[in-house]
Amino acid sequence: MTLDDDFLAKQVAAALGDSRLGVEEARPQHRFVLDYAGPNVAKEMHVGHLRSTAIGDALARLLEFLGHGVARQDHLGDWGRQFGMLVEHLVDLGWAPETSDRSISDLDELYREAQRKFDADPEFAERARRRVVALQSGDPESTALWRQLVEESRRHFAAVYRRLDLTLGPEDNRPESFYQPMLEPMVAELEQKGLVRVDQGALCAFPPGFQGRDGQPLPLIVRNSVGGYGYAATDLAGVRYSVYELGADRLVYVTDARQAQHFAMVFAVAAQAGWLDGVTAEHAPFGNVLGPDGRPFRTRAGDTVRLADLLDEAVDRARQVVMEKNPALGPDEVERVAEAVGIGSVKYNDLVNDRIKDYVFDWDRMLAREGNTAPYLQYAHARIRSIFRRADEDAVTPDGSELGGRVVLEAPEERALALNLVSFDSAASASASNLQPHRLCTYLFELATSFTAFYEACPVLRAEPELRTSRLALCDLSGKVLARGLNLLGIEAPERM
Ligand code: ARG
Repeated sequence: MTLDDDFLAKQVAAALGDSRLGVEEARPQHRFVLDYAGPNVAKEMHVGHLRSTAIGDALARLLEFLGHGVARQDHLGDWGRQFGMLVEHLVDLGWAPETSDRSISDLDELYREAQRKFDADPEFAERARRRVVALQSGDPESTALWRQLVEESRRHFAAVYRRLDLTLGPEDNRPESFYQPMLEPMVAELEQKGLVRVDQGALCAFPPGFQGRDGQPLPLIVRNSVGGYGYAATDLAGVRYSVYELGADRLVYVTDARQAQHFAMVFAVAAQAGWLDGVTAEHAPFGNVLGPDGRPFRTRAGDTVRLADLLDEAVDRARQVVMEKNPALGPDEVERVAEAVGIGSVKYNDLVNDRIKDYVFDWDRMLAREGNTAPYLQYAHARIRSIFRRADEDAVTPDGSELGGRVVLEAPEERALALNLVSFDSAASASASNLQPHRLCTYLFELATSFTAFYEACPVLRAEPELRTSRLALCDLSGKVLARGLNLLGIEAPERM
């Protein structure tokens, strides 16, 4: 199919005059519950959480831009047996329930110490077991200590979220403990519907179609043999809550691929219970982040990589590049650009890969100005901004808003660019409906590439007036689509770099 040049030119002009840049709202609109991030209390966020946060947040932004309702759910792991030993350890450290704003410099270390004591000291292990019971039955002292630990962990997470520029706010905090009061009524409903039975002491559901290696039906453990509720029960309650309290008709969970079976079973039981009538529940799984050796990405010492450290290093590396390329930038701007480029590179590098696949973490590749990277797109955008700065100096050019009316497409590069510009709509909607941010990345990369080709072939500021206006319009829309596209991916587009 070949589009008529005049038609294409009009589409470009229309997109330029449209605050949505030609992207239509989705029909029908849905109410999404989007579950992502969900780090675990008393543990540092590590490189694995990069994936859930980068992908989840991009999807949230994209779906919202398309007009859908999005309720973000940050399913913090703040409940379970390990909190007995953690709280008991805090008691040993002299924490008192009434002390507020305690700080922990190293959450992982706290966890390791508690674990070490639990393994080595039977007396401590016994206290930890009693503490779980106390905590889960609402003992005020235990609850107060546990709450301090949760709050302190959340402060750590909030700092990383801020740095990653996530759109998650305190209102999205939906930790496991939130569902505790809902578990008994939820289980009662499953019992009443005949969907669970006791197997080896545990209350289990056996959704049809799930078999173990031995060919026996696979249980989803709803309540264990000592009466405790775990991850599955919480997620079942979460489905019920999302549908009936939040009014969702689309549930999306962004977690690593290892949890695929868990979610498949949870959805199957929820469907049996009738909670998913008219509702689609989907697991959006992602692959692993690998080191250069093709094994899970680790530090040289073999530890998991803390996300906070990774982001620091990204910004340090970006700062070097920014200072080298722009000796004229002031220190504040260097910092701002380095942050945008460093964090943007890490996020983009995560998003650009097909969600489901593993990818290799490679500093040089993600920070390169060539190739399908954040810096390449950011640079293309900054270059466009500089055209307008120079055009302003000539005192001839408007800011672009009036440019749309007179688009002419003559050179093949102009046509190719125009064609890409008017494809933003289909790229955004395909990316959203498949829950695949990498499609939007691919689109933006093609756009930046066709812009570069256009800019090399077609003089802009030196063109004769009519052509100049038209080409400025193409530049303007290119810059706006790049900035908006990056914004939907949760990445900044600095004015210069
Ligand atoms: N805390 C979990 C983890 O770190 C992720 C939670 C995902 N969300 C959910 N509803 N299960 O693996």
